[in-house]
Amino acid sequence: MADWQRTVTCGALRAEHLGTSVTLNGWVNSRRAYNQQVFLDLRDRYGVTQVVIEADAGSPLFDIADGTGREWCLSVKGEVRRRLPGKENAELATGAVEVVARHLEVLNKCPTPPFEVTEFPGEELAGEDIRLQYRFLDLRRPSLQKALLMRNRLNQTIRSFLDGRSFVEVETPLLGRSTPEGARDYLVPSRVHPGSWYALPQSPQLYKQLLMVSGIDRYYQIARCLRDEDLRADRQPEFTQLDVEMSFVDQDDILKLIEDLAVEVFRSCLGMEVTVPFPRLSYDEAMLRYGSDKPDLRYGLEITDVTDWAGGSGFKVFQEAVAAGHAVRAINATGAAGRFSNTELKPGGKLSEVVTRAGGKGLAWLKVEEGKYTGGIEKFFAAGMLEELGRRLGAKPGDLLLLVADAPDKAAELLGGLRTHLAAQLGLVPADAKTFKPLWVVDFPSFMRDDEEGRWVANHHPFTAPRVADIAKLESDTASVKARAYDLVINGYECGGGSIRIHDPVVQERLFAVLGLPAEQAREKFGFLLDALKMGAPPHGGIALGLDRWAMILSGTANIRDVIAFPKNQRARDLMTGAPAPVDARQLKELGL
Ligand code: AMO
Repeated sequence: MADWQRTVTCGALRAEHLGTSVTLNGWVNSRRAYNQQVFLDLRDRYGVTQVVIEADAGSPLFDIADGTGREWCLSVKGEVRRRLPGKENAELATGAVEVVARHLEVLNKCPTPPFEVTEFPGEELAGEDIRLQYRFLDLRRPSLQKALLMRNRLNQTIRSFLDGRSFVEVETPLLGRSTPEGARDYLVPSRVHPGSWYALPQSPQLYKQLLMVSGIDRYYQIARCLRDEDLRADRQPEFTQLDVEMSFVDQDDILKLIEDLAVEVFRSCLGMEVTVPFPRLSYDEAMLRYGSDKPDLRYGLEITDVTDWAGGSGFKVFQEAVAAGHAVRAINATGAAGRFSNTELKPGGKLSEVVTRAGGKGLAWLKVEEGKYTGGIEKFFAAGMLEELGRRLGAKPGDLLLLVADAPDKAAELLGGLRTHLAAQLGLVPADAKTFKPLWVVDFPSFMRDDEEGRWVANHHPFTAPRVADIAKLESDTASVKARAYDLVINGYECGGGSIRIHDPVVQERLFAVLGLPAEQAREKFGFLLDALKMGAPPHGGIALGLDRWAMILSGTANIRDVIAFPKNQRARDLMTGAPAPVDARQLKELGL
């Protein structure tokens, strides 16, 4: 062991170590210099220890210490002593002690860092771009290190849980053929086969199904997936799934497995017990009650359909909507009448604009007062009608009733957006980062209409099995076919999705045809799958959990980049390495490009 190597970490020393000789290695978190003393807070992954260098230590020690700066990498040798009375730091695990240096070695210098690594409570961090550019430095920040450790705990828990249940971890190719998951592919040109391209996997979907055909039975992989799609706060072009597939199972087996896994994860990552089974909500009900297929159940603000009531009103907007087959739906923002001024509610007002900016025609509203309703539209309703509305919405004085009329899907979307906005405005989202409301959304429609292209597209992916009873109407009543698919939603995030798969090659071919892929093209693209399904493919199904989103939820951050060591920015760029970057002409020539 070299002389400078640490004997303890910067998080280890306590009162019980008083009087011992130690060597610490770490980075200068902060430096405070006085006439007779220099204090260095030395930081590593494990914590921070205060080091004191005294002027009378003689030797060049004091001058070396005085010349160091933030983020220098040091080795310090010295004795552990009690801090002076009143100088203890209860916030710090090592706060009772300090190390009096008798030797100090600079392992490496650092110019003035582009931002503070030390986090000061309540102080804003430096801009994200500069932190992404110097990510290696930003990763010294304790909260990012905590997130990486949380991710590590998550992965270890998953591996040991699945290993205990006879799952086999299998790696599948990165260079393959495109699997449609609804996003654009990242393509890789082949040098050996000019003009031909590999696609990086959007998910290992087809490989895991093929492993079921091979009899692997219970597969999992912590798999990197790549999708060239628009980025959001919870989306990266490159992300990680826990990918799972099982043979001879039904939907309930998979949901139960994931619930058991979730119990383990919350227990080992947060020391928390979650209640299982998770509630299940059909897609239709989720859209009706929450206006979203990934509802945040941490707060109420449920949506109520009042179309039948609205039809009988004298309010022209509602009359016309109902006559056109549209829906009228409402949210009771309980106790919120005083929170929004009439100006905010009127056309052009801030709250009204939440609806119009999302493509809605307008927002109708009523403030509930003792014995009356106000909002400008009350005059259009016959005696008793507003009381009837109030009864349906459970209204009390002080409540604010918000109503939207539109095509049913649009009304759901508009009120879903309004619900999220209201929750944020009214402070209904628990700030503790310890409230978790998981649920399953089930019974999704198999298909969605792509109006631009005038064809059906798969809601999950084309390998998802329709409900057995719906197979007969695949072609005749496509819109009504429901899928054996399920999403796991936690606090408004889609944290996982999966389905029972089609294992009958004939049904798979019919489904391709519904999606506008005639037999010949289906064979060309997915011949290997169809061949495999013909060779005794077992009934099978699975799921993939978005591990980045799990890590976000467990770490209490709304920014996916906080849980990824080297993330891309919102424009899919790596600000540290500069990727994507041009390549030289010779490389392109070799690839025939
Ligand atoms: P799906 O496309 O729903 O299903 O993906 C599964 C889960 O992966 C996460 N996720 C993402 N996370 C971060 N950034 C992204 N760009 C991103 N896209 C998806 C979500 C999502 O629920 N093959 C199927 C799974 C299956 O059927 O078994 C699939 O990939 O949490």
